[in-house]
Amino acid sequence: MESFKNRIVYQIWPRSFKDSNDDGIGDLQGVISKLDYLKDIGIDTLWLSPVYATGNKDYGYDIDDYYKINPEYGTMGDFDELLKQAKERGIAIIMDLVANHTSDQHVWFKEALKSKDSPYRDYYIFKEGKRDRKGRSVPPNNWLSAFGGSAWQRDEKSGEYYLTIFTPNQCDLNWANRKVREGIYEIMRFWLDKGILGFRMDVINTIAKADGLPPAGKGKKLDFPFEHIVSLPKSHEYLKEMHEEVLSHYENAFTVGEGMVTSITDLIRYTAPEEKKLNMMFQFDLHLIGCGPLGKFDFRKGYLWNTKELKDIIFNWQLKVQEGNGWLGNFMSNHDQPRQVSRFGNDRHFRRKSAKALALLNMTLRGTPFLYQGEEIGMTNCQLEIDEWRDFEAINDFKVLQEMMHLPEFVAKKVIQKMTRDHARTPMQWSRKEYAGFSNTLPWIKVNPNYTYINVEDELKKENSLIGFYRQIIAIRKNSSALSSGVIIPVDRDHPQVISYLRENQNESFLVVINLSEKKTKVNLEEVMTSEWRAVLGTYGSREYDSTLSVHPYEALLFRRVKSIEKI
Ligand code: GLC
Ligand code: CA
Repeated sequence: MESFKNRIVYQIWPRSFKDSNDDGIGDLQGVISKLDYLKDIGIDTLWLSPVYATGNKDYGYDIDDYYKINPEYGTMGDFDELLKQAKERGIAIIMDLVANHTSDQHVWFKEALKSKDSPYRDYYIFKEGKRDRKGRSVPPNNWLSAFGGSAWQRDEKSGEYYLTIFTPNQCDLNWANRKVREGIYEIMRFWLDKGILGFRMDVINTIAKADGLPPAGKGKKLDFPFEHIVSLPKSHEYLKEMHEEVLSHYENAFTVGEGMVTSITDLIRYTAPEEKKLNMMFQFDLHLIGCGPLGKFDFRKGYLWNTKELKDIIFNWQLKVQEGNGWLGNFMSNHDQPRQVSRFGNDRHFRRKSAKALALLNMTLRGTPFLYQGEEIGMTNCQLEIDEWRDFEAINDFKVLQEMMHLPEFVAKKVIQKMTRDHARTPMQWSRKEYAGFSNTLPWIKVNPNYTYINVEDELKKENSLIGFYRQIIAIRKNSSALSSGVIIPVDRDHPQVISYLRENQNESFLVVINLSEKKTKVNLEEVMTSEWRAVLGTYGSREYDSTLSVHPYEALLFRRVKSIEKI
């Protein structure tokens, strides 16, 4: 089995994980101080969201220097120590590779701005503007930025515009330029040579842009240029080249791609082993459930969805990716999403029960599981007032919703408060001490007031703790090739509330049954009836297998059966 299938990845968003020097900002020494905690849960791989030098316009995803550590987080010495201490505990590190854009403070961009003839000009996407009817300069086309507003910024000196698909400080690189690609490959080699295991690649399916940068959509109003930037044939070629020139030279280099609106077909083309591009990729359909066609802040469906739709999304991806021999990175939350227990579970009456249900789901699907800091204690969304918002996306889209979409302010506020990325970025809750044990100073972003009862220290003391549940299911998964790499087969597929499936290979078979609703119900397991199912894990205590099981609210059950080959 390829080793990437057997890993358990824990994502750290360093700014909010643990502050070691009481400046209110998480840092690398903070991460080091929690390695034993992570190892104890069974984590073997850490993904660090960007820790490079940055102006923090997009909290690290705007990189000034890929060879330097953000001084707020520590030094290269601290990084080397983290790498070493993690290795000693059997934990590998993967870094975020932000290769679609650099910040406007990066030396390449600063050089590019110096003159139109600079050799660095062609590292980015500069273009002359157009004139409107009154003769004023306007951007070269109608491309909308992912965070709202035009995707073009004007360089006053030359009068030209440069492309910024994300924040106005994140300047899109020109991947058609061989020198840019070499520059990125060099960065990758630098970190791989240091001993990291691999990369999570940021918006990697948008690195290629359509020749001539044609207008988006109907070409009139600002519109997002999906058709001209998402998964163009060239982006596949670039990733193939990257694999050949860099990744293939490092044994077992780990790669996971992140991309916007990746289709199933594309995901397979990025991840099937014979493609020699990436190990795995994320999908976001699950996270956009209940959103309108324009994405997370498109509230027109009222963020309403039901369990059947959720199941359909999951099974659709699971089965098609399996059929195409691709591989998914599965996750229920990350630094860009609301907290999973608030989004997909029930953060009031069934917080710990539903958190366990989601944990079992994420840990038993086909694909490599990713956890996000805080989910192991069931951290929830945090109600944030406007002056407490920290994320550019939230602040900018608040304006866009009012100005472009003509929403009244109170509705725009509600929409942002529902989906803001800041939910995921409030400090990790370590204890019931002031500031949640994250820091001894007022942190850079509000601490969720529920830290007094949702925190690591208290959770660890509980009987049947959530952390303990993670520890158990991680241990089971790591010791089972059926769970890591076996097939998935849906069971009782049309059940409106319960998701059930088999994970199996020739040696053993697991049956997963999870009630994703707050209502009791019955599930029909006749299609997998046998007397050999043994209960392995259950969130309401151990339950005997029965072909018609009644399940409690958010009950999650795991059964195992040893198949004949192993028995002989
Ligand atoms: C990815 C990151 C997100 C960032 C964006 C631009 O989607 O996950 O946090 O804002 O790329 O780099
Ligand atoms: Ca600090």
